Amino acid sequence: MVIEWGVHLSTGVAWQDREHKELLRRFNELVTAIDEGRGPEEVKRLFTFLDDYVVAHFHHEEQAMSRFSYPDMLVHLEEHTHFIDDLFRVKAGSQGSADDLAELIRKRLVSWILNHLGSTDKFLGAFLRERPGERGP
Ligand SMILES: [Fe+2]
Ligand SMILES: [Fe+2]
Repeated sequence: MVIEWGVHLSTGVAWQDREHKELLRRFNELVTAIDEGRGPEEVKRLFTFLDDYVVAHFHHEEQAMSRFSYPDMLVHLEEHTHFIDDLFRVKAGSQGSADDLAELIRKRLVSWILNHLGSTDKFLGAFLRERPGERGP
C-alpha cells in the first residue's frame, strides 16, 4: 500500500517536490506500521507525525497561492480541507482491526494523494514555475 514518489507526481517546483517526498515518506511509514501489525500507540504516533507535516505543507502551498493570487485557490483549498477531514476520520477509526484500517486508508487517503499530487498540485506547480522570484517557504 506504500506510494512511491516518481516523476508522474513531480510538480517541477523544488520545494513542493521535496515536501511531497517527505509527506509520502511519513505516509509510507504509517502504512508499513499498520501492515506489520505494530501496536496502537505506535500507529497513533505515526498518524500525528503525518498530520503535522500535512498541515505544514498545506500551509506552505496556501501561502504561495495567496502570494501570487492563484486563480484556482478556492478549489485547491477545498481539496486540502477534505484531506484533513478524512485524515482525522481515519485516525479516529484507527481502533478497529488492521485490515479495516488498511481498507479505510486505501479508500480515503491513497486515491486522494495520487489525484491531488498528480493533478491539482501539478497545476499549481506549473503556475508557480512561471512566477519569477517564487522561492517557496
Ligand atoms: Fe495541494
Ligand atoms: Fe502538495
